[in-house]
Amino acid sequence: MKTEQLSPTSFQQISNTLAEELNRQIIVILDFGSQYSELIARRVREVEVYSEVLSYCTTADVIRQLSPKGIILSGGPNSIYEDDVPQCDPKIWDLEIPILGVCYGMHLMVQQLGGEVAKTQRGEYGKASLHIDDFTNLLTDIENGTTMWMSHGDSVIQMPSGFELLAHTENTPYAAIANHEKKLYGVQFHPEVAHSVGGLSLISNFVHHICECKPTWTTTAFVEEAIREIRGRVGNEQVLLALSGGVDSSALAFLMHKAIGNQLTCVFIDQGFMRKHEPERLLKLFKEQFHIPVEYVDAGAHFLTALAGVTEPEKKRRIIGHEFIHVFEEVSKRLGPFDYLAQGTLYPDVIESADTNVDPQTGERVAMKIKSHHNVGGLPKDLRFKLVEPLRKLFKDEVRKVGRSLGLPEEIVQRQPFPGPGLAIRIIGEVTAERLNILRDADLIVRQEINKHGLYNECWQAFAVLLPIRSVGVMGDRRTYAHPIVLRIVTSEDGMTADWARVPYNLLEVISNRIVNEVKGVNRVVYDITSKPPGTIEWE
Ligand code: XMP
Repeated sequence: MKTEQLSPTSFQQISNTLAEELNRQIIVILDFGSQYSELIARRVREVEVYSEVLSYCTTADVIRQLSPKGIILSGGPNSIYEDDVPQCDPKIWDLEIPILGVCYGMHLMVQQLGGEVAKTQRGEYGKASLHIDDFTNLLTDIENGTTMWMSHGDSVIQMPSGFELLAHTENTPYAAIANHEKKLYGVQFHPEVAHSVGGLSLISNFVHHICECKPTWTTTAFVEEAIREIRGRVGNEQVLLALSGGVDSSALAFLMHKAIGNQLTCVFIDQGFMRKHEPERLLKLFKEQFHIPVEYVDAGAHFLTALAGVTEPEKKRRIIGHEFIHVFEEVSKRLGPFDYLAQGTLYPDVIESADTNVDPQTGERVAMKIKSHHNVGGLPKDLRFKLVEPLRKLFKDEVRKVGRSLGLPEEIVQRQPFPGPGLAIRIIGEVTAERLNILRDADLIVRQEINKHGLYNECWQAFAVLLPIRSVGVMGDRRTYAHPIVLRIVTSEDGMTADWARVPYNLLEVISNRIVNEVKGVNRVVYDITSKPPGTIEWE
Protein backbone atom coordinates (compact mmCIF):
# COMPACT_ATOMS: atom_id res chain seq x y z
CA MET A 1 0.00 0.00 0.00
CA LYS A 2 1.23 3.48 -0.82
CA THR A 3 0.94 5.71 2.22
CA GLU A 4 3.67 8.08 3.23
CA GLN A 5 4.21 10.15 6.32
CA LEU A 6 3.75 13.84 5.76
CA SER A 7 6.93 15.71 6.59
CA PRO A 8 6.86 17.81 9.77
CA THR A 9 7.24 21.05 7.83
CA SER A 10 4.19 20.35 5.71
CA PHE A 11 2.25 19.61 8.82
CA GLN A 12 3.45 22.83 10.39
CA GLN A 13 2.34 24.70 7.33
CA ILE A 14 -1.05 23.06 7.41
CA SER A 15 -1.69 23.51 11.08
CA ASN A 16 -0.64 27.13 11.12
CA THR A 17 -3.83 28.30 9.47
CA LEU A 18 -6.57 30.83 9.68
CA ALA A 19 -8.87 27.90 10.17
CA GLU A 20 -7.47 27.56 13.64
CA GLU A 21 -8.95 30.94 14.39
CA LEU A 22 -12.17 29.98 12.68
CA ASN A 23 -12.89 27.36 15.32
CA ARG A 24 -11.64 24.41 13.39
CA GLN A 25 -14.54 24.45 10.97
CA ILE A 26 -12.40 22.72 8.39
CA ILE A 27 -13.00 20.08 5.75
CA VAL A 28 -9.98 18.15 4.56
CA ILE A 29 -9.87 16.99 0.95
CA LEU A 30 -7.55 14.08 0.30
CA ASP A 31 -6.29 14.41 -3.25
CA PHE A 32 -5.95 11.20 -5.27
CA GLY A 33 -4.80 13.02 -8.38
CA SER A 34 -8.14 14.18 -9.69
CA GLN A 35 -8.23 17.25 -11.89
CA TYR A 36 -11.19 18.29 -9.73
CA SER A 37 -9.63 18.19 -6.23
CA GLU A 38 -9.18 21.95 -6.13
CA LEU A 39 -12.69 22.37 -7.42
CA ILE A 40 -14.04 20.33 -4.49
CA ALA A 41 -12.13 22.63 -2.14
CA ARG A 42 -13.57 25.70 -3.84
CA ARG A 43 -17.12 24.33 -3.65
CA VAL A 44 -16.78 23.67 0.07
CA ARG A 45 -15.59 27.23 0.52
CA GLU A 46 -18.52 28.48 -1.56
CA VAL A 47 -20.79 27.11 1.15
CA GLU A 48 -18.70 29.13 3.61
CA VAL A 49 -16.61 26.42 5.20
CA TYR A 50 -12.84 26.42 5.08
CA SER A 51 -11.18 23.54 3.22
CA GLU A 52 -7.63 22.30 2.70
CA VAL A 53 -6.35 19.96 -0.01
CA LEU A 54 -3.89 17.40 1.35
CA SER A 55 -2.03 14.57 -0.29
CA TYR A 56 -3.85 11.22 -0.32
CA CYS A 57 -1.02 9.79 1.76
CA THR A 58 -1.65 12.02 4.78
CA THR A 59 -1.91 9.64 7.69
CA ALA A 60 -4.93 9.26 9.95
CA ASP A 61 -2.80 10.51 12.86
CA VAL A 62 -1.96 13.75 11.07
CA ILE A 63 -5.59 14.21 10.09
CA ARG A 64 -6.70 13.63 13.69
CA GLN A 65 -4.35 16.38 14.86
CA LEU A 66 -5.95 18.77 12.41
CA SER A 67 -9.36 17.83 13.83
CA PRO A 68 -11.37 18.51 10.71
CA LYS A 69 -15.16 18.31 10.81
CA GLY A 70 -15.20 16.15 7.70
CA ILE A 71 -13.07 14.50 5.03
CA ILE A 72 -13.69 14.29 1.30
CA LEU A 73 -11.79 11.74 -0.77
CA SER A 74 -11.36 13.07 -4.31
CA GLY A 75 -11.66 11.14 -7.52
CA GLY A 76 -8.54 10.08 -9.37
CA PRO A 77 -7.33 8.74 -12.69
CA ASN A 78 -6.57 5.24 -11.39
CA SER A 79 -8.53 2.04 -11.23
CA ILE A 80 -8.37 0.66 -7.69
CA TYR A 81 -7.35 -2.83 -8.69
CA GLU A 82 -4.33 -1.73 -10.72
CA ASP A 83 -0.98 -2.34 -9.00
CA ASP A 84 0.45 0.24 -6.69
CA VAL A 85 -2.38 2.75 -6.90
CA PRO A 86 -2.82 5.47 -4.29
CA GLN A 87 -4.57 4.29 -1.14
CA CYS A 88 -5.64 6.22 1.91
CA ASP A 89 -4.55 5.23 5.37
CA PRO A 90 -7.19 2.58 6.32
CA LYS A 91 -7.22 4.00 9.84
CA ILE A 92 -9.22 6.98 8.59
CA TRP A 93 -12.41 4.88 8.72
CA ASP A 94 -12.03 4.69 12.49
CA LEU A 95 -11.50 8.42 13.06
CA GLU A 96 -15.21 8.93 13.69
CA ILE A 97 -15.13 11.89 11.31
CA PRO A 98 -17.73 11.97 8.48
CA ILE A 99 -16.22 10.98 5.13
CA LEU A 100 -17.51 11.51 1.61
CA GLY A 101 -15.81 9.50 -1.15
CA VAL A 102 -16.18 10.86 -4.70
CA CYS A 103 -15.76 8.38 -7.59
CA TYR A 104 -12.31 6.83 -6.98
CA GLY A 105 -12.69 7.94 -3.34
CA MET A 106 -15.93 5.96 -3.15
CA HIS A 107 -14.26 2.92 -4.71
CA LEU A 108 -11.52 3.03 -2.09
CA MET A 109 -14.09 3.27 0.69
CA VAL A 110 -16.00 0.30 -0.69
CA GLN A 111 -12.93 -1.83 -1.29
CA GLN A 112 -11.22 -1.12 2.02
CA LEU A 113 -14.44 -1.76 3.96
CA GLY A 114 -15.14 -5.14 2.34
CA GLY A 115 -17.43 -4.35 -0.59
CA GLU A 116 -16.63 -4.92 -4.24
CA VAL A 117 -15.76 -2.70 -7.20
CA ALA A 118 -15.44 -4.00 -10.75
CA LYS A 119 -14.78 -2.79 -14.24
CA THR A 120 -18.19 -2.36 -15.80
CA GLN A 121 -19.20 -3.37 -19.29
CA ARG A 122 -19.84 0.20 -20.24
CA GLY A 123 -18.32 3.11 -18.42
CA GLU A 124 -20.49 6.13 -17.88
CA TYR A 125 -19.23 9.51 -19.08
CA GLY A 126 -21.18 12.72 -19.11
CA LYS A 127 -24.60 13.59 -17.78
CA ALA A 128 -26.78 11.03 -16.02
CA SER A 129 -30.18 11.22 -14.40
CA LEU A 130 -30.06 10.48 -10.69
CA HIS A 131 -32.91 8.38 -9.29
CA ILE A 132 -33.04 8.96 -5.58
CA ASP A 133 -33.89 6.04 -3.28
CA ASP A 134 -33.34 7.83 0.02
CA PHE A 135 -33.96 11.53 0.38
CA THR A 136 -32.54 11.86 3.88
CA ASN A 137 -29.41 13.80 4.82
CA LEU A 138 -26.93 13.69 1.89
CA LEU A 139 -29.62 14.03 -0.77
CA THR A 140 -32.01 16.30 1.10
CA ASP A 141 -33.61 18.91 -1.17
CA ILE A 142 -32.15 17.35 -4.29
CA GLU A 143 -34.69 16.77 -7.02
CA ASN A 144 -35.39 13.24 -8.16
CA GLY A 145 -34.11 12.81 -11.72
CA THR A 146 -31.60 15.65 -11.37
CA THR A 147 -28.56 15.66 -13.65
CA MET A 148 -25.25 14.58 -12.18
CA TRP A 149 -22.01 14.35 -14.10
CA MET A 150 -20.32 10.93 -14.36
CA SER A 151 -16.87 9.91 -15.48
CA HIS A 152 -16.01 6.34 -14.53
CA GLY A 153 -15.05 2.97 -15.95
CA ASP A 154 -15.30 1.11 -12.60
CA SER A 155 -18.44 0.71 -10.51
CA VAL A 156 -19.46 -0.58 -7.11
CA ILE A 157 -21.11 -3.98 -7.52
CA GLN A 158 -21.46 -4.82 -3.85
CA MET A 159 -21.74 -2.44 -0.91
CA PRO A 160 -19.77 -3.13 2.28
CA SER A 161 -21.91 -4.30 5.19
CA GLY A 162 -23.69 -1.52 7.04
CA PHE A 163 -24.16 0.51 3.83
CA GLU A 164 -27.46 1.43 2.20
CA LEU A 165 -28.37 2.60 -1.26
CA LEU A 166 -29.16 6.32 -1.59
CA ALA A 167 -29.45 6.67 -5.37
CA HIS A 168 -28.90 4.92 -8.72
CA THR A 169 -28.76 5.83 -12.40
CA GLU A 170 -29.67 3.78 -15.43
CA ASN A 171 -26.15 2.36 -15.78
CA THR A 172 -24.95 2.63 -12.20
CA PRO A 173 -26.85 0.64 -9.58
CA TYR A 174 -24.90 2.21 -6.71
CA ALA A 175 -24.62 5.90 -7.63
CA ALA A 176 -24.78 7.07 -3.99
CA ILE A 177 -24.42 4.95 -0.86
CA ALA A 178 -24.17 5.56 2.87
CA ASN A 179 -23.38 4.04 6.19
CA HIS A 180 -25.54 6.43 8.18
CA GLU A 181 -24.36 5.21 11.54
CA LYS A 182 -20.68 5.78 10.78
CA LYS A 183 -21.40 8.83 8.61
CA LEU A 184 -19.58 7.37 5.61
CA TYR A 185 -20.88 8.39 2.19
CA GLY A 186 -19.90 7.56 -1.36
CA VAL A 187 -21.00 9.07 -4.66
CA GLN A 188 -20.11 7.74 -8.08
CA PHE A 189 -20.76 11.09 -9.78
CA HIS A 190 -18.91 14.38 -9.42
CA PRO A 191 -21.01 16.82 -7.38
CA GLU A 192 -18.25 19.44 -7.65
CA VAL A 193 -18.52 20.08 -11.41
CA ALA A 194 -20.82 22.78 -12.72
CA HIS A 195 -22.79 20.30 -14.89
CA SER A 196 -24.02 18.47 -11.78
CA VAL A 197 -27.32 20.16 -11.00
CA GLY A 198 -27.77 20.04 -7.25
CA GLY A 199 -24.09 19.16 -6.76
CA LEU A 200 -23.52 22.20 -4.58
CA SER A 201 -26.59 21.30 -2.48
CA LEU A 202 -25.13 17.85 -1.94
CA ILE A 203 -21.83 19.35 -0.83
CA SER A 204 -23.70 21.75 1.43
CA ASN A 205 -25.71 18.85 2.90
CA PHE A 206 -22.52 16.96 3.65
CA VAL A 207 -20.69 19.94 5.09
CA HIS A 208 -23.51 21.57 7.05
CA HIS A 209 -25.89 18.77 8.01
CA ILE A 210 -23.64 15.75 8.24
CA CYS A 211 -20.37 17.34 9.39
CA GLU A 212 -22.27 20.04 11.29
CA CYS A 213 -19.96 22.81 10.15
CA LYS A 214 -20.94 26.39 10.78
CA PRO A 215 -20.61 28.86 7.89
CA THR A 216 -17.57 30.67 9.25
CA TRP A 217 -15.56 31.06 6.05
CA THR A 218 -16.83 34.43 4.90
CA THR A 219 -14.99 37.30 3.33
CA THR A 220 -15.59 39.45 6.40
CA ALA A 221 -14.27 36.75 8.73
CA PHE A 222 -11.25 36.23 6.49
CA VAL A 223 -10.39 39.92 6.40
CA GLU A 224 -10.72 40.25 10.17
CA GLU A 225 -8.59 37.20 10.90
CA ALA A 226 -6.02 38.08 8.24
CA ILE A 227 -5.58 41.55 9.71
CA ARG A 228 -5.17 40.09 13.19
CA GLU A 229 -2.66 37.57 11.89
CA ILE A 230 -0.65 40.15 9.94
CA ARG A 231 -0.43 42.41 12.99
CA GLY A 232 0.59 39.52 15.22
CA ARG A 233 3.26 38.38 12.81
CA VAL A 234 4.75 41.70 11.75
CA GLY A 235 4.62 43.54 15.08
CA ASN A 236 6.37 46.89 14.69
CA GLU A 237 8.56 45.83 11.81
CA GLN A 238 8.73 47.27 8.32
CA VAL A 239 7.22 45.57 5.28
CA LEU A 240 8.01 45.98 1.60
CA LEU A 241 5.50 45.13 -1.12
CA ALA A 242 6.01 45.07 -4.89
CA LEU A 243 2.86 46.29 -6.58
CA SER A 244 2.21 45.12 -10.13
CA GLY A 245 -1.29 46.41 -10.79
CA GLY A 246 -2.87 42.96 -10.83
CA VAL A 247 -5.62 41.89 -8.49
CA ASP A 248 -3.37 39.83 -6.21
CA SER A 249 -0.80 42.48 -5.40
CA SER A 250 -3.48 45.18 -5.22
CA ALA A 251 -5.69 43.20 -2.81
CA LEU A 252 -2.58 42.38 -0.82
CA ALA A 253 -1.63 46.05 -0.62
CA PHE A 254 -5.13 46.96 0.59
CA LEU A 255 -5.12 44.26 3.23
CA MET A 256 -1.61 45.01 4.45
CA HIS A 257 -2.30 48.74 4.53
CA LYS A 258 -5.43 48.16 6.54
CA ALA A 259 -3.48 45.99 8.97
CA ILE A 260 -0.27 47.95 9.45
CA GLY A 261 -0.75 51.37 7.84
CA ASN A 262 2.52 53.21 7.31
CA GLN A 263 4.71 50.28 8.31
CA LEU A 264 4.00 49.20 4.72
CA THR A 265 5.96 50.52 1.77
CA CYS A 266 4.50 49.76 -1.66
CA VAL A 267 6.89 49.93 -4.56
CA PHE A 268 5.80 49.96 -8.16
CA ILE A 269 8.71 49.20 -10.45
CA ASP A 270 7.70 50.24 -13.94
CA GLN A 271 9.76 48.12 -16.32
CA GLY A 272 8.30 50.05 -19.24
CA PHE A 273 6.28 47.06 -20.44
CA MET A 274 2.85 47.99 -19.11
CA ARG A 275 -0.11 48.78 -21.34
CA LYS A 276 -0.96 52.29 -22.41
CA HIS A 277 -1.96 54.60 -19.51
CA GLU A 278 -1.74 51.76 -16.97
CA PRO A 279 1.11 53.04 -14.78
CA GLU A 280 -0.44 56.53 -14.50
CA ARG A 281 -3.86 55.05 -13.80
CA LEU A 282 -2.53 52.73 -11.10
CA LEU A 283 -0.62 55.48 -9.33
CA LYS A 284 -3.58 57.83 -9.44
CA LEU A 285 -5.89 55.18 -8.03
CA PHE A 286 -3.59 54.24 -5.19
CA LYS A 287 -2.51 57.73 -4.25
CA GLU A 288 -5.60 59.82 -4.83
CA GLN A 289 -8.45 57.40 -4.39
CA PHE A 290 -7.14 54.78 -1.97
CA HIS A 291 -4.68 57.03 -0.11
CA ILE A 292 -2.04 54.33 -0.09
CA PRO A 293 1.37 55.85 -0.84
CA VAL A 294 3.28 54.15 -3.64
CA GLU A 295 6.95 54.58 -4.44
CA TYR A 296 7.12 54.79 -8.24
CA VAL A 297 10.33 53.65 -9.90
CA ASP A 298 10.61 54.45 -13.60
CA ALA A 299 13.03 51.80 -14.82
CA GLY A 300 11.90 51.73 -18.47
CA ALA A 301 15.17 52.96 -19.95
CA HIS A 302 17.17 50.56 -17.80
CA PHE A 303 15.18 47.55 -19.02
CA LEU A 304 15.33 48.59 -22.67
CA THR A 305 19.10 48.89 -22.51
CA ALA A 306 19.37 45.48 -20.88
CA LEU A 307 17.26 43.93 -23.65
CA ALA A 308 19.01 45.60 -26.58
CA GLY A 309 19.70 43.07 -29.32
CA VAL A 310 18.10 40.16 -27.40
CA THR A 311 15.61 38.08 -29.40
CA GLU A 312 15.42 34.67 -27.71
CA PRO A 313 12.25 34.46 -25.54
CA GLU A 314 13.74 32.65 -22.54
CA LYS A 315 16.76 34.94 -22.54
CA LYS A 316 14.42 37.94 -22.57
CA ARG A 317 12.51 36.55 -19.59
CA ARG A 318 15.76 35.80 -17.73
CA ILE A 319 17.11 39.28 -18.30
CA ILE A 320 13.86 40.90 -17.22
CA GLY A 321 13.80 38.73 -14.07
CA HIS A 322 17.41 39.49 -13.32
CA GLU A 323 17.08 43.22 -13.86
CA PHE A 324 13.96 43.31 -11.73
CA ILE A 325 15.90 41.86 -8.83
CA HIS A 326 18.65 44.36 -9.40
CA VAL A 327 16.28 47.32 -9.31
CA PHE A 328 14.28 45.82 -6.45
CA GLU A 329 17.43 45.37 -4.41
CA GLU A 330 18.50 48.95 -4.99
CA VAL A 331 15.08 50.26 -4.05
CA SER A 332 14.86 48.17 -0.90
CA LYS A 333 18.29 49.40 0.19
CA ARG A 334 17.40 52.98 -0.57
CA LEU A 335 14.05 52.92 1.21
CA GLY A 336 14.76 50.27 3.82
CA PRO A 337 15.74 48.50 5.90
CA PHE A 338 12.78 46.13 5.65
CA ASP A 339 12.21 43.03 7.72
CA TYR A 340 9.37 41.52 5.75
CA LEU A 341 8.38 41.10 2.16
CA ALA A 342 4.63 40.88 1.56
CA GLN A 343 3.98 38.42 -1.19
CA GLY A 344 0.76 37.57 -3.05
CA THR A 345 1.17 33.80 -2.99
CA LEU A 346 -2.17 32.05 -3.53
CA TYR A 347 -3.42 28.65 -2.39
CA PRO A 348 -2.85 26.83 -5.71
CA ASP A 349 0.84 27.84 -5.51
CA VAL A 350 0.99 26.48 -1.97
CA ILE A 351 -0.50 23.15 -3.02
CA GLU A 352 1.98 22.90 -5.87
CA SER A 353 5.12 24.03 -4.14
CA ALA A 354 4.60 22.24 -0.78
CA ASP A 355 7.83 22.55 1.19
CA THR A 356 9.89 24.76 -1.04
CA ASN A 357 11.30 27.95 0.42
CA VAL A 358 11.41 26.71 4.00
CA ASP A 359 14.62 27.61 5.78
CA PRO A 360 15.83 24.26 7.15
CA GLN A 361 17.36 25.93 10.20
CA THR A 362 14.52 28.12 11.39
CA GLY A 363 11.59 26.46 9.68
CA GLU A 364 10.59 29.95 8.56
CA ARG A 365 9.39 30.48 4.98
CA VAL A 366 11.88 32.75 3.24
CA ALA A 367 11.97 34.56 -0.07
CA MET A 368 14.56 32.45 -1.83
CA LYS A 369 12.30 32.69 -4.81
CA ILE A 370 9.43 34.98 -5.60
CA LYS A 371 6.66 33.10 -7.36
CA SER A 372 6.69 33.09 -11.09
CA HIS A 373 3.41 34.96 -11.19
CA HIS A 374 5.35 37.93 -9.92
CA ASN A 375 7.99 37.20 -12.46
CA VAL A 376 10.90 38.60 -10.65
CA GLY A 377 12.91 35.41 -10.61
CA GLY A 378 15.02 34.35 -7.65
CA LEU A 379 16.26 36.85 -5.12
CA PRO A 380 19.93 36.70 -4.25
CA LYS A 381 20.75 34.78 -1.08
CA ASP A 382 21.95 37.79 0.88
CA LEU A 383 18.62 39.53 0.45
CA ARG A 384 16.60 37.39 2.81
CA PHE A 385 13.35 38.84 3.94
CA LYS A 386 10.92 37.10 6.17
CA LEU A 387 7.72 36.52 4.28
CA VAL A 388 4.22 37.58 5.03
CA GLU A 389 1.73 35.92 2.70
CA PRO A 390 -1.79 36.64 3.89
CA LEU A 391 -3.45 35.43 0.68
CA ARG A 392 -1.87 32.00 0.78
CA LYS A 393 -5.11 30.37 1.89
CA LEU A 394 -7.14 31.83 -0.96
CA PHE A 395 -8.14 30.76 -4.43
CA LYS A 396 -8.18 33.44 -7.12
CA ASP A 397 -11.96 33.88 -6.98
CA GLU A 398 -11.68 34.41 -3.22
CA VAL A 399 -8.98 37.05 -3.73
CA ARG A 400 -11.40 38.87 -6.02
CA LYS A 401 -14.10 38.75 -3.35
CA VAL A 402 -11.70 39.99 -0.69
CA GLY A 403 -10.48 42.75 -3.02
CA ARG A 404 -14.04 43.81 -3.69
CA SER A 405 -14.94 43.81 -0.02
CA LEU A 406 -11.94 46.02 0.72
CA GLY A 407 -13.08 48.50 -1.91
CA LEU A 408 -10.93 47.63 -4.93
CA PRO A 409 -12.64 48.85 -8.10
CA GLU A 410 -13.89 46.37 -10.71
CA GLU A 411 -11.23 47.46 -13.21
CA ILE A 412 -8.64 45.85 -10.92
CA VAL A 413 -10.79 43.04 -9.50
CA GLN A 414 -11.77 41.77 -12.96
CA ARG A 415 -8.51 42.61 -14.70
CA GLN A 416 -7.50 39.96 -17.20
CA PRO A 417 -4.23 38.13 -16.48
CA PHE A 418 -1.21 40.06 -17.65
CA PRO A 419 2.23 38.43 -17.70
CA GLY A 420 4.93 39.86 -15.45
CA PRO A 421 7.30 40.54 -18.37
CA GLY A 422 4.36 42.42 -19.90
CA LEU A 423 4.48 43.68 -23.47
CA ALA A 424 8.11 42.60 -23.78
CA ILE A 425 6.96 39.03 -24.47
CA ARG A 426 4.27 40.24 -26.85
CA ILE A 427 6.86 41.83 -29.11
CA ILE A 428 8.37 38.92 -30.93
CA GLY A 429 12.12 39.36 -31.26
CA GLU A 430 13.92 42.46 -30.09
CA VAL A 431 12.11 44.93 -27.87
CA THR A 432 12.61 48.55 -28.87
CA ALA A 433 10.95 51.78 -27.78
CA GLU A 434 9.41 52.17 -31.22
CA ARG A 435 7.91 48.67 -31.18
CA LEU A 436 6.60 49.19 -27.68
CA ASN A 437 4.78 52.31 -28.84
CA ILE A 438 3.24 50.47 -31.79
CA LEU A 439 2.11 47.57 -29.63
CA ARG A 440 0.72 49.85 -26.92
CA ASP A 441 -1.43 51.71 -29.43
CA ALA A 442 -2.70 48.49 -31.03
CA ASP A 443 -3.35 46.90 -27.64
CA LEU A 444 -5.38 49.90 -26.51
CA ILE A 445 -7.64 49.57 -29.54
CA VAL A 446 -8.16 45.87 -28.80
CA ARG A 447 -9.14 46.64 -25.22
CA GLN A 448 -11.41 49.51 -26.20
CA GLU A 449 -13.31 47.44 -28.75
CA ILE A 450 -13.56 44.35 -26.56
CA ASN A 451 -15.01 46.55 -23.82
CA LYS A 452 -17.37 48.27 -26.22
CA HIS A 453 -18.71 44.89 -27.31
CA GLY A 454 -19.15 43.81 -23.68
CA LEU A 455 -16.73 40.93 -24.08
CA TYR A 456 -14.03 41.85 -21.55
CA ASN A 457 -15.33 39.53 -18.85
CA GLU A 458 -16.42 36.89 -21.37
CA CYS A 459 -12.92 36.07 -22.53
CA TRP A 460 -9.89 35.05 -20.51
CA GLN A 461 -7.54 37.37 -22.35
CA ALA A 462 -7.68 39.64 -25.37
CA PHE A 463 -4.50 41.29 -26.58
CA ALA A 464 -2.25 42.20 -29.48
CA VAL A 465 1.12 40.73 -30.43
CA LEU A 466 3.62 42.53 -32.66
CA LEU A 467 5.59 40.49 -35.19
CA PRO A 468 9.09 41.65 -36.16
CA ILE A 469 8.56 40.78 -39.83
CA ARG A 470 7.07 43.15 -42.35
CA SER A 471 4.68 42.54 -45.21
CA VAL A 472 3.51 44.52 -48.20
CA GLY A 473 0.24 46.40 -48.26
CA VAL A 474 -1.35 49.29 -50.05
CA MET A 475 -2.88 52.41 -48.51
CA GLY A 476 -4.26 55.11 -50.73
CA ASP A 477 -2.14 54.75 -53.80
CA ARG A 478 0.96 53.96 -51.86
CA ARG A 479 2.68 50.69 -51.23
CA THR A 480 3.32 50.02 -47.54
CA TYR A 481 5.83 47.70 -45.98
CA ALA A 482 5.04 47.39 -42.30
CA HIS A 483 4.50 45.09 -39.32
CA PRO A 484 1.57 42.74 -38.81
CA ILE A 485 -0.33 42.69 -35.53
CA VAL A 486 -1.64 39.36 -34.28
CA LEU A 487 -4.91 39.48 -32.45
CA ARG A 488 -5.12 36.89 -29.66
CA ILE A 489 -8.48 36.43 -27.94
CA VAL A 490 -8.97 33.27 -25.91
CA THR A 491 -11.48 31.67 -23.61
CA SER A 492 -10.23 29.57 -20.72
CA GLU A 493 -11.13 28.37 -17.23
CA ASP A 494 -7.69 28.56 -15.69
CA GLY A 495 -5.10 29.38 -18.35
CA MET A 496 -3.92 25.76 -18.45
CA THR A 497 -5.95 25.04 -21.57
CA ALA A 498 -7.57 27.60 -23.81
CA ASP A 499 -9.54 27.99 -26.98
CA TRP A 500 -9.56 30.85 -29.46
CA ALA A 501 -12.68 32.92 -29.00
CA ARG A 502 -15.38 32.78 -31.66
CA VAL A 503 -15.92 36.54 -31.57
CA PRO A 504 -18.27 38.23 -34.05
CA TYR A 505 -16.76 39.05 -37.46
CA ASN A 506 -17.79 42.68 -37.14
CA LEU A 507 -15.66 43.00 -34.00
CA LEU A 508 -12.67 41.57 -35.86
CA GLU A 509 -13.40 43.96 -38.69
CA VAL A 510 -13.56 47.04 -36.47
CA ILE A 511 -10.36 46.10 -34.63
CA SER A 512 -8.52 45.41 -37.87
CA ASN A 513 -9.67 48.65 -39.52
CA ARG A 514 -8.87 50.76 -36.53
CA ILE A 515 -5.41 49.28 -35.97
CA VAL A 516 -4.36 49.59 -39.61
CA ASN A 517 -5.72 53.13 -39.87
CA GLU A 518 -4.71 54.49 -36.50
CA VAL A 519 -1.44 52.77 -35.64
CA LYS A 520 1.50 53.94 -37.63
CA GLY A 521 3.82 51.09 -38.58
CA VAL A 522 1.11 48.42 -38.93
CA ASN A 523 -0.51 47.46 -42.24
CA ARG A 524 -2.03 44.04 -41.50
CA VAL A 525 -3.98 42.32 -38.70
CA VAL A 526 -4.29 38.54 -38.38
CA TYR A 527 -6.38 36.48 -35.95
CA ASP A 528 -4.72 33.62 -34.09
CA ILE A 529 -6.99 30.54 -34.27
CA THR A 530 -4.78 28.16 -32.31
CA SER A 531 -6.02 26.53 -29.14
CA LYS A 532 -3.81 25.64 -26.15
CA PRO A 533 -2.50 22.99 -26.49
CA PRO A 534 -0.84 22.86 -28.95
CA GLY A 535 -0.26 26.63 -28.82
CA THR A 536 0.30 28.66 -25.69
CA ILE A 537 -1.72 31.76 -24.90
CA GLU A 538 1.24 34.11 -25.10
CA TRP A 539 3.48 34.01 -28.15
CA GLU A 540 6.71 33.87 -26.17
P1 XMP B 1 0.84 30.52 -21.66
O1 XMP B 1 1.41 31.51 -22.62
O2 XMP B 1 1.88 29.68 -20.99
O3 XMP B 1 0.19 31.39 -20.51
O4 XMP B 1 -0.26 29.70 -22.25
C1 XMP B 1 -0.72 30.92 -19.56
C2 XMP B 1 -1.17 32.09 -18.71
O5 XMP B 1 -0.07 32.59 -17.96
C3 XMP B 1 0.18 33.93 -18.31
N1 XMP B 1 1.64 34.07 -18.37
C4 XMP B 1 2.33 34.64 -17.41
N2 XMP B 1 1.92 35.19 -16.28
N3 XMP B 1 4.15 35.69 -15.79
C5 XMP B 1 2.82 35.72 -15.47
O6 XMP B 1 2.47 36.25 -14.45
C6 XMP B 1 4.64 35.15 -16.91
O7 XMP B 1 5.83 35.14 -17.15
C7 XMP B 1 3.67 34.59 -17.76
N4 XMP B 1 3.75 33.97 -18.95
C8 XMP B 1 2.49 33.66 -19.30
C9 XMP B 1 -0.46 34.16 -19.64
O8 XMP B 1 -0.77 35.53 -19.87
C10 XMP B 1 -1.66 33.27 -19.54
O9 XMP B 1 -2.71 33.89 -18.81
